[in-house]
Amino acid sequence: MAADAHGLSPETQAITLGYSSSMAFGAVKPPAVMTTTFAYASAQHAKDVHEAFFEGTGPAVGATDAYIYTRLGHPNLTMVETRLAALDGAEASAVFCSGMAAISTTLLAFLRPGDTVLCSRPCYGGTDGYLTTILPEFGVSTFGIIEGYKDANIRAAMEAAMAAGPLRLIHLESPANPTAAIVDIAAVTRIADELAPRQGFRPLVVVDNTFLGPLLQSPLALGADLSMTSLTKYCGGHSDLMAGGVSGSAALVAKLKALRTLSGNHLDPFSSWLLLRSFETLGLRTDRACGSARAVAEFLRAHPKVAAVTYLGFIEGEAREVFDRQCRGTGSTFSFRLHGGEAEAFRLLDALRVLRLAVSLGGSETLICNPATTTHYQVPRERREAGGIFDSTLRLSVGLEAPADLIADLAQALDAA
Ligand SMILES: Cc1ncc(COP(=O)(O)O)c(C=O)c1O
Repeated sequence: MAADAHGLSPETQAITLGYSSSMAFGAVKPPAVMTTTFAYASAQHAKDVHEAFFEGTGPAVGATDAYIYTRLGHPNLTMVETRLAALDGAEASAVFCSGMAAISTTLLAFLRPGDTVLCSRPCYGGTDGYLTTILPEFGVSTFGIIEGYKDANIRAAMEAAMAAGPLRLIHLESPANPTAAIVDIAAVTRIADELAPRQGFRPLVVVDNTFLGPLLQSPLALGADLSMTSLTKYCGGHSDLMAGGVSGSAALVAKLKALRTLSGNHLDPFSSWLLLRSFETLGLRTDRACGSARAVAEFLRAHPKVAAVTYLGFIEGEAREVFDRQCRGTGSTFSFRLHGGEAEAFRLLDALRVLRLAVSLGGSETLICNPATTTHYQVPRERREAGGIFDSTLRLSVGLEAPADLIADLAQALDAA
């Protein structure tokens, strides 16, 4: 992978950025700074630190006397934000206590009553729930884009949203949960630029990059304003921490941090410390999981009980062109659909011995679930099916086990289905 402005490739940045031994006793690894508050050297120092915080100039990386109170910022958070910003190719990042905290804070920071939002579909059930049940209570309505790799669909969806009110924000999830459907991020930003003069401003384009993560896709380089990632997934990588990050310009991220301070949804010191460690193996884990996912997807595609596999490595036509332009890998989460319905899906799930039946993705262990009855339970059937999520759809997040063991387990469970 190419080196960036820091002169280091992303894999190296993921190991080195944000911490140096000179910051803590020469320790090669950073300490977890487990404190809720920070002592000032003097009253003047207290005033200076508050001024720096509220004027947006502090705390800097490596600063040892610039923190106030952990909700406002703490050393491990600065380390993790520095690393994430570099990986996302951004000026700045804000890290939150979950992916949903990152998403909801972004929506609340930029939307106002009367605005409309455009969201690609399908998308994560939590995002869909926030957009369709919480935001309407604040006078914000949501419109959807289906098959967002086609210019015509993007344009029509933007027109519909703009007809109902100022289109303030476009939330894209690409690849999408659970089907790995992709949206043409560059086309969305181009069409948003084109239509912007009609309403006097360009909607903010936010991309949920959870399915691929910063090593396999760079939404900011494709023109997005903000790149959001549930760090709970591949970046955390071990299913033992929850976090979410948003990267972009310093000005946009400052708005998010201001709201985060008052909402209290920052990432705590220990989870920040764990996440910083997890970034170090992101490259290795990504390579391994992507290779295994391809083997599993190929096995499933050839199986007579499998009706379809929506795996990025198999997409064709226009969507393939978009994939080739915007993604650097196929990821390891995808869906497949069995012939039959819920009963067949449940029989398969209950027969598995190695794969774990659980929601979430991006961990070292392989997880499988039935989105219609779990992650997308609250999404009405009509919207679910329009987004390609059927009763017999199963989502698979391929982990780091030996692929032959995963395939053998799926083979015996398919026999039972
Ligand atoms: C694509 C996507 N975005 C956001 C989220 C929310 O992240 P979190 O569970 O960390 O709040 C998820 C969770 O599954 C997800 O799959």
